[in-house]
Amino acid sequence: MPEPRDWDREWLELSAGALDAVSRADTLEAVEAARVDLLGRERGRLSALLKSLKDLPIEERKRLGPQANALKDAIEKGLESRRKALDAKALDAGLAAARIDLSLPPPPWPRGRRHPVSETLREMTDILSRLGFALAEGPLVENDRNNFEGLNIPADHPARDVQDTFYLRDLPLLLRTHTSPVQIRHMEANKPPIRIMAPGRVFRHEAVDASHSAVFHQVEGLYIDRRVTMADLKGTLSLFMRGLLGPKAAIRFRPSFFPFTEPSTEVDVRCLLCAGAGCAACKRSGWMELLGAGLVHPNVLRFCGIDPAQWSGFAFGVGVERLTLLRLGVPDIRMLYENDVRVLEKLS
Ligand code: PHE
Repeated sequence: MPEPRDWDREWLELSAGALDAVSRADTLEAVEAARVDLLGRERGRLSALLKSLKDLPIEERKRLGPQANALKDAIEKGLESRRKALDAKALDAGLAAARIDLSLPPPPWPRGRRHPVSETLREMTDILSRLGFALAEGPLVENDRNNFEGLNIPADHPARDVQDTFYLRDLPLLLRTHTSPVQIRHMEANKPPIRIMAPGRVFRHEAVDASHSAVFHQVEGLYIDRRVTMADLKGTLSLFMRGLLGPKAAIRFRPSFFPFTEPSTEVDVRCLLCAGAGCAACKRSGWMELLGAGLVHPNVLRFCGIDPAQWSGFAFGVGVERLTLLRLGVPDIRMLYENDVRVLEKLS
């Protein structure tokens, strides 16, 4: 006859080890193994015990049944909480490994861009350098000699008036009123042939309005060689403007006067807004004045030690802001400087 089963001992052993085994499971696989070991349909130890309860006398069943069911509930709860804890741990480990910065703003990210004036300046120097012009630079603080005297601007010329020029207090210096002093600096330091562009900031003591600013940018061009003529100037400026404004850009020369060029011309570009028909932007003329130019005055060449009988050349100076406004179809220069992002975003 087989030994009678010692239910109480079996029960004690099972219940003592079960919850401990569950709480020690430290991987999802170990949790599953503990579940199979205890609650598996076929061989689970608690399942087996529950099944065999039916062989017990009724009083024993009443005593052990609720206990066994309570243990089953406790094990199930324990397994579930282990699973949750392990899932959370796995998620944390995954996030730590991926180094995702959850504080970053979501895409699309705002991207910076060049200021429209810088962009125009960059394109201008780009085109001129392809036409063979090398970069030359000069200081923003100049002396009277380079800014006026060398450029054949006489002492009584109105440009020298404090109304137009910013002079430095107590020093014989000024803020350059144009990029032309770079011509003087370059011609004094270099022998012809010369082909340079000088981009940069210039200053005028002027009231600010829709088309004037006290600080703005110019690009100067200077070409000195043998037998340079107005035809070379016109060809170069046509290519320059077509590169900047598109293949349809047309220019015209108007006679003008600058002390440092002879002959002098003002160059207009056909209005891009109305294609020459006449609109408010071009004051109904169909043309917009964009730059000053001419053949370098013999006095300027001589001042720099260049013999005007051997060499001739052209020079031009073009305002970057005015060109930027024209390209963008914007009416007011102040819109370029107020740096309202909402405006700047529309411009580029
Ligand atoms: N320096 C002139 C200005 O600022 C422009 C210019 C440059 C004209 C070169 C002729 C030749 O108005």
